Amino acid sequence: MLQRLILALTLGCSTFAFSQSSLDGYWQFTVPNGGVNFFVLKQTDETVTATAPGGRMPFTGTLQGNKLHLSATVKFGNTTSEFVFDGVRQSADTFELSETRPGVRPGQVFEDKGTLQRVSRDVVYPERLPLPPLANQPDNGLARTPPMGWNSWNHYHDHFDDATVRQTADAMVSSGMAAAGYKYIIVDEGWSSSRDANGNIVGNARFPDMKALADYVHSKGLKIGIYSSPGPQVCGGYQGSYGHEEQDAKTFAAWGYDYLKYDWCGASRIYQRTPADLEGAYQKMGEALAKTGRPIVFSLCEYGWGDVWKWGAKAGGNLWRTTGDIADNWASMDRIGFAQLDITQYPKPGHWNDPDMLEVGNGGMTADEYRTHMSLWAMLRAPLIAGNDLRTMTEETKSILMNPDVIAIDQDPAALAVQRTPPQGTSEVLIRPLAGEAVAVGLFNRGASPAQISFRWDSLHLNADLGGKSLEARDLWKHVAIPVTGDSYTATVPTHGVVLVRVSVKPFGMF
Ligand code: GLA
Repeated sequence: MLQRLILALTLGCSTFAFSQSSLDGYWQFTVPNGGVNFFVLKQTDETVTATAPGGRMPFTGTLQGNKLHLSATVKFGNTTSEFVFDGVRQSADTFELSETRPGVRPGQVFEDKGTLQRVSRDVVYPERLPLPPLANQPDNGLARTPPMGWNSWNHYHDHFDDATVRQTADAMVSSGMAAAGYKYIIVDEGWSSSRDANGNIVGNARFPDMKALADYVHSKGLKIGIYSSPGPQVCGGYQGSYGHEEQDAKTFAAWGYDYLKYDWCGASRIYQRTPADLEGAYQKMGEALAKTGRPIVFSLCEYGWGDVWKWGAKAGGNLWRTTGDIADNWASMDRIGFAQLDITQYPKPGHWNDPDMLEVGNGGMTADEYRTHMSLWAMLRAPLIAGNDLRTMTEETKSILMNPDVIAIDQDPAALAVQRTPPQGTSEVLIRPLAGEAVAVGLFNRGASPAQISFRWDSLHLNADLGGKSLEARDLWKHVAIPVTGDSYTATVPTHGVVLVRVSVKPFGMF
């Protein structure tokens, strides 16, 4: 009894002691097999605010006794998402903490449990290492047409594992996606853990052997991609390559990776968002990849900052994200897709604008909207990186992702820029000259009701009247021939839908 009393008094006193010590300062939230995130906490009586250096939104909440509660509400388009932390204080400098955050699909919630620990400022803001003097990187000869593949992020975020990736590789082949041209299986955020005693980056428990995973994907006749950051951590806090660029490039090459997506996020704690820092940080990895001697496609992901389309190739990039993240809804896809029309002069073989990965098949858009997504990306010469669950695709999803005629537009060897005709309200006519005597014409209806959209045959500049040649046309979604009659063609295009037409000059002598 006495012992219990002494224990209670001791516990009570220590709880009292640490509940008196202010939370002000730097804290690190570590989730086993998950991310490491940093917070700057400020406490005034029971009120606590948490800001996340270089990243996440500010949280507000309370510390009552030993219980910490923090939350943030974020609006993404029309959806409001709630991020909540609940913790129990274990000592002056540690909490057991759980975080609930929105998952990927509506209504899905991810929960992470870990430890919140006080750290010094230099853990949060490591010393800034020098960047290389800016210089043109030689072209690595890869990605002559826009890369095609699959990436884990849009469907799983970081909630996936080695088995998911292997099954996706299997499905890539069995579904016909591989035969349709999709070849890179890209493992996005969520695979890394930390570094071993020699500073080598290692996979976490869900990805115990990254080399074996690469071997498996290669055994299916596919190529494999990996994900890191110029910062110490990637976006959600998993290990990044800061200060280990050459070492990581060597590791990725030794494991057999063929593609690196290099995502800025955590780099904001080290570098400024200036063109020199952005370009320098990417060039550093571009040089490191080149040194490995392995052909590795270099995918820059810094959301278009500093007009990356003007210097991405110089830094060694094969493709560069031109925007923030896509979401699986019409507003996001429409906004991102059509904004690309302002920068269509920049992509060229080996170096592509990347308006982000496909959402086709993820369930947030109608089939017409997904056909628009696929058609628009093809017209833009965008990388076609599927982001759905390849294991459970409906026939409709397959028909969209694997439409050979639409893929052929994306991959057209002439790689000429799409041309926009002046929009008529919410109707857009996009024209893409193709190799040979052909063009693709996209009639896009961005409006909320069906629209009649037309183009004139002679606006395509196919010179069909020269030498008595004539035109032929095909609807690439309905898979039917379109009669070439009169001066123009008019289609009724469904809400948020597209009619995609390939028009070509008939081979001489065919009438
Ligand atoms: C950023 C990128 C996404 C994805 C996530 C991972 O938001 O733009 O494509 O890689 O990071 O956290």
